[in-house]
This record gives sequence, structure tokens and C-alpha cells, in this order.
Amino acid sequence: MFNKLSLCQIPTPLETMPRLGMKIGVETLLIKRDDLLGRGLGGSKLRKLEFIVSQALSQGADTLITIGSFESNHVALMSIVSRMQGLRPIVVLRVPTGKRSHTFNHCIQNSLEVETHIVEYVEGDIASQAMVRQKVDSYVSELVDKLTQEGHHPFFVPEGGCCLEGSYAFVEAFDELHKQMQKQGYQKYDIIVPVGSGSTYAGLWCGSQRAGAEVKIRGISIALRNPRCLKETRKATERVCNELGLRSPELKELDITDLFIGDGYAKSTEWSTRGIKLALRTEGLLLDHTYTGKALGAMITLLEKESPNHPVVFWHTGGVSGAVDNLFGLF
Ligand SMILES: Cc1ncc(COP(=O)(O)O)c(C=O)c1O
Repeated sequence: MFNKLSLCQIPTPLETMPRLGMKIGVETLLIKRDDLLGRGLGGSKLRKLEFIVSQALSQGADTLITIGSFESNHVALMSIVSRMQGLRPIVVLRVPTGKRSHTFNHCIQNSLEVETHIVEYVEGDIASQAMVRQKVDSYVSELVDKLTQEGHHPFFVPEGGCCLEGSYAFVEAFDELHKQMQKQGYQKYDIIVPVGSGSTYAGLWCGSQRAGAEVKIRGISIALRNPRCLKETRKATERVCNELGLRSPELKELDITDLFIGDGYAKSTEWSTRGIKLALRTEGLLLDHTYTGKALGAMITLLEKESPNHPVVFWHTGGVSGAVDNLFGLF
């Protein structure tokens, strides 16, 4: 369907979490280890980049540009992949005025000597946060024009790899997991996954539809409230459905909760703190407070109430750099 580079160590392991399962009263709790994808500190963004960067190369790109923040896993991994492919990485970061975080992901960018442009906004000021998106978009298009005039071939990688190819990576990732589950005799199960832009969720949802699988994809929104989160995710899902000839979902068919966001993006919550501690103490797993810790914390709270009698798979999407930052007390 789409060409891709070969960057990921796949299939990633599917492991059981018996100690965590026992602690929360779930008989079959599994974990899909996309934190072990194989470059940098791993993370599922690498699956998206296999497809996106392949497309960039086929269009003759010599430069990759993306958007993010000091904490962004996508920015760090895109920078790594750019260098691996001999491309020039350029990143535009949204940063609260005067704030410079020394995150692990930003250290990776620095050691890769990535060209970094900063667009500032006033933290906590909603108008300023809304404006910064526009500012970043026009900054990027000016950058693209300038580079093109200079004879370069820039390729824009959407933030978080949120695009058709990025989501399609997770249609294939669903197939990968489903084969592993079927091999263990499981047909019917739930997947729990963190939701940022919704493009990962979209790919998994479409994968399960395409396979006709009895699998519920349950998303935990880490920042966006509903109905916006559901609408953004449906938009991402529609893109893939159109490409694969699948029926697009109704909003009510997407199972994404916004109950565990707390104060917002990258803000710890009582659930994330509990999830991070329990995962490390019971299974030796590193989770970050932005994505995987929030999602696992939410999962624990939900499953303790539900006591499901079918298997549940937690999709560990990575974010190990954030877990390291967390351990160093950065947040
Ligand atoms: C570790 C991790 N998990 C989950 C997500 C969310 O993915 P999506 O934006 O596709 O919903 C991200 C996005 O940055 C991420 O870095």
C-alpha cells in the first residue's frame, strides 16, 4: 500500500504482566512493547516515521522539518531518522516564554546538531496558546519557501506524525499484534492506548475493522477534551478509512475517555503517578507522565472497577525519555 523504510525491530514483544494483573484483579494483562522499537529510546513514533520518511525520500527531499516541544518524542525520533538517512533535520519548537527545559529528548536534538527555531507563547494564556499554532504554521511555510528558493527540497512532517501514512503504520501494527494474540489463542480482547492527536488510535481502529477482529480499541486522552478529541480522532480515522475502502466510524463508535487528563498536557495526575510507580515496582517498566503513565494509570482505575474476564493489552507507545526526565525530578 505505502512504501516504508526498515527502521523498527518488529514484531515488538508481547509480554504478560502477571504481577500488575494480580494486583488489580485482571487475569490476563498483556503489554505490547513498542518502547523497544530499536532506535533512540524506541517509541511508536518510529513506526510512523518508517512510512513518512520513505515518502519524503521518494519525493527527493533533502531536508525534514517538523514541529513540537522540548519534550517531544516525535521531534527527537524524526531528528534521529533524518541523520540516519543523510537528511537535514530542522525543528520548530513551541516554548513558553523564557522557559528552556533540559529534557532528554532535547539533549538528543542538541547532540544531533539539529537546526532549532523557537516560537514563544505565554504559558497559561489561552489566547497566546491559540495564536502560537498560527505563528508556528506561518513560520514553517516561510521556512519552506526560503529553503525552496535556495534550491533545497524541504519536506514537512506533520506534528506527531499525524497524517495518513503515520496512521497507516498502526493498521500494520494492529495486524502484528493480532497475529501474536491469535497465536496465543486469543480472539477477543481490548487494547488500551494513549491518545494525543488520535492518529495512533485511528490506525489501530482501522486495523481491527479491516481484520474483522473482535477487539475493542480503548483510548485514554492525555490532553484534548471531548468532543474535540473524538472529532480529531475521527478525522484521522476517516483519512485511513477512505484509503482502505472501510466505512468511517460514527463518533459514538470511538471509545476514548477524557476523564484522566487532569490539568492538561504533560501534567502529572494522581493516576499517572500511581501507574508509573506500580508499573516499575511490579513489572520493571519505565513509563512517562505525559502519555504511557497517564494511560496506564487510567487503565488501572478502569479495570479495577470492571474486572474483565477477557484479555487486555496495554500498548506501551514509548516515551522512555520522559520517564528518565521524570526520574531525574525534572517534572
Ligand atoms: C509516547 C507517545 N505515546 C502516545 C502518543 C500519542 O500518539 P497520537 O498523537 O498518535 O495519538 C505520542 C505522541 O506524541 C507519544 O509520543
